[in-house]
Amino acid sequence: MNEHVQTATLSERADEIEEQMMHELAERVATKSVLFGMADGKIEMMNGFEFKKSNPDKYFLMGADPRLPQMPKKPTLIDFFRNRFASLNHLLQSANLALKNGHNEKIVLACLLHDIGVASFIRCDHGYWGAQMIEPYVDPEVSWAVRMHQALRFFPDPSVGYEYPQMYINNFGADYKPEPYIVRDYERAKNHKWYMSARLICVNDIYAFDPNAKVNLDDFVDLVGRNFRQPEEGLGFDDSPSAHMWRTLMWPTRYL
Ligand SMILES: [Fe+2]
Ligand SMILES: [Fe+2]
Repeated sequence: MNEHVQTATLSERADEIEEQMMHELAERVATKSVLFGMADGKIEMMNGFEFKKSNPDKYFLMGADPRLPQMPKKPTLIDFFRNRFASLNHLLQSANLALKNGHNEKIVLACLLHDIGVASFIRCDHGYWGAQMIEPYVDPEVSWAVRMHQALRFFPDPSVGYEYPQMYINNFGADYKPEPYIVRDYERAKNHKWYMSARLICVNDIYAFDPNAKVNLDDFVDLVGRNFRQPEEGLGFDDSPSAHMWRTLMWPTRYL
């Protein structure tokens, strides 16, 4: 009897909490940053003052967006892989190829992370963004290689059998020429001691994705553990120079 009463009370309580949560979510408004609108060809932003005038009972979202997968309190790089990266196939397949080709863990990690800029954040200048995100947590050679693959992928290197990708001709047209800053970085990288690390990202970059290849993120968890200095406080909460980037990925629609 007592048990029954207890169950009823718990279930009522659960309903109450759910109702309260829905109510709260309904009151919180997610806002789009200007950048999100630019992707639709618009330069605009919500006028917070005007919005509050006509919706005095509503608040802006100042934390997690309930439409996105929930992140743990102390997120790891793997949590971001699982909950914020739009696609893992390309990264996993590239890292897997580097592993098969017998490269060391720094190169495999660089391949695993080389396009996280694209997978999670933004396409334009993805190598530079990605490098900045990981810089505080990896060997400098890894972030340097991720940054420089941005430039190197546009230039062939016959010594390692890297040709200008056919995919780029298909995607950008045969007459596409990289901007001068890309050419400058390529020239700088060519004589750098870590040139080959960045080049190996291009060599192991899988342009023709195999939809049937099965590579699991779990296969790289240990390697990430050994080579990525996961902050104890969680990525985003460690006050590193790129912590804000990880927080923005966590809360992309936070008002401020
Ligand atoms: Fe890339
Ligand atoms: Fe890539």
